Amino acid sequence: MSKTFTVAIIGAGARGGKVYGRLMHRSPERYRITHLCDSDRDVLDGAGTEFEVPAENRYTDSQAFFAERRADVVVIATPDKYHVEHCLKAMELGYDILCEKPLTDRIDECEALLATQKKYGNKILVCHVLRYAAAYLELKNIIDSGKIGKLVSMDWIEPVGYWHQAHSFVRGNWRNTKDSAPMIIAKCCHDLDMIQHYAGARCKSVSSVGDLTFFKSECAPEGSTKRCCDCPLKDSCPYSAYRIYIEGWKAKNRPENYWPYNVLTGEPVTEEKLLKAIEKGPYGRCVFRCDNNVVDHQTVQMLFENGITATLQMNAFNLGGGRKVTVFGTYGEAYMDSKNIVLNVFGQPTEIIDTKVKGKHLDYAHGGGDARMIDALYDMVSGEKPLETALAQSIESHLIGIKAEQSRLAGGKTLSVHE
Ligand SMILES: NC(=O)c1ccc[n+]([C@@H]2O[C@H](COP(=O)([O-])OP(=O)(O)OC[C@H]3O[C@@H](n4cnc5c(N)ncnc54)[C@H](O)[C@@H]3O)[C@@H](O)[C@H]2O)c1
Repeated sequence: MSKTFTVAIIGAGARGGKVYGRLMHRSPERYRITHLCDSDRDVLDGAGTEFEVPAENRYTDSQAFFAERRADVVVIATPDKYHVEHCLKAMELGYDILCEKPLTDRIDECEALLATQKKYGNKILVCHVLRYAAAYLELKNIIDSGKIGKLVSMDWIEPVGYWHQAHSFVRGNWRNTKDSAPMIIAKCCHDLDMIQHYAGARCKSVSSVGDLTFFKSECAPEGSTKRCCDCPLKDSCPYSAYRIYIEGWKAKNRPENYWPYNVLTGEPVTEEKLLKAIEKGPYGRCVFRCDNNVVDHQTVQMLFENGITATLQMNAFNLGGGRKVTVFGTYGEAYMDSKNIVLNVFGQPTEIIDTKVKGKHLDYAHGGGDARMIDALYDMVSGEKPLETALAQSIESHLIGIKAEQSRLAGGKTLSVHE
C-alpha cells in the first residue's frame, strides 16, 4: 500500500494554499496537510478551515513554526525574499521540500543552498511547473526524438501581457527589487529553466539589455490622478484598475476563486469587494505612480557549453496569453504557442500537434503542470522516480538569470556564467 505523507505549508496564499494545498487536499491517499503557517491570520484560518488543520497546528509566526519538524514534507510558498531563509531552516530540520521559485538572486545564496542540501541530504523540488506542462513535455519529446536533427538554437518569447505586468510587476508583489527578485528571475526563471533543460548543457555566457520604459511618472497621461477611483481616464485607460479588474471579471464571467481577482479580495470574489479593494488598496493605484522599479522589457542572449544558442525576450506590451517558442534543428524546426506545436521536418509536410488533447490534469493551471508537479513530488518523496527539477538543476538556471541581470545593469556586457 502506498504511503500517505504529512505536509506542512508555510505561505498559504495563492500558490501554497489555493494551488498546492488544494491539489494535495484532493489526494488524501497521498498527502495529509497537518500544519500551516501564514503571517496573515485570515489567510491562515481560511486555509486551516478548508484543509481541516486543527487550530493548535496553525502558526502566524515562522519562528514558532520552524521550532521543530512538523511533517514529512514542507511546502514553502512565502514571498520571494523568504525562500532562502525558509529553505535553509527546513533543510536543517530534515524536511523534504517543495519550494517556490525563484530561490534567490544571489550567487552566495545559491552556493549556501547547495552546501546545506549536501550536508542534510534533503530531497528538494523547485516549482518549475513548465517542466510538467503538456506542451513543454511534448516539445522536449520532439527534441529528444531527433526529428528536427541536432538542436542548434532557440527563440523564446514571454509575452507577459499588459494587464499582468500592471497587476504583478507595477502594482503587485513583484514590482520592486527591494522585496522581490529582478523581473528576469521572478517572471522568467521558468523560461530560463526550460531553455537550459532543452539545451541539455550548462550555460557558458550570457548578455542582456532591457529597461523600465513606460510605467513611471513621466509617462503619466495628462489629467491622470494618483488612484483610478478619482481619475477622469478610468474608463479609457487600458491600465485602469476598473477595466482590468471590474470589466475583466464581469466580461468573462469568472468564477469566484479566479486569479488575479482573488489576489485583491480573497475568496469568494465579489464585485463589491473588488470595488472596495480598488478604492483603498494597492491595486487601485495609477500604474504611472507606483513604487515599481522592475523592467517592462528585457532580452537575454545565451551560449551553452555544447554550442547551442538561445534568445529570451520578456515583454509587457502585448495581450499576454502564453509563451511562443521556436526550436531550430539541423533537419527541422518546431514552433509552440499556447494552442499547439507546428512541426516542420525539412522536406516533409507540416505536422500540427494539438498539445491540449494530449495532457491530463488540464483543469489546473500551467497546462496541467501544477497538478503533474504535485504528482512528481509524491514520486520524489516516496523514492519512486528520480527528479528533474532538483535543486542543483534549478540553481543552474538561477545563475543564468543572476548573470543576465548583472549584464543588463552593466549595459549589456557579455558575462561568463561559471567563472
Ligand atoms: N511556480 C509558479 O508558477 C509561481 C506562480 C506564481 C507565484 N509563484 C511564487 O510563489 C510564491 C508565493 O506567491 P503567491 O502568489 O502565492 O503570493 P501570496 O501573497 O498569495 O502568498 C504568500 C503568502 O505568504 C504569507 N507570508 C508572507 N510572509 C510570511 C512569513 N514570513 N511567514 C509566513 N507566511 C508569510 C502571506 O501572508 C501570503 O498569504 C512567490 O515566491 C511567487 O514568486 C510561483
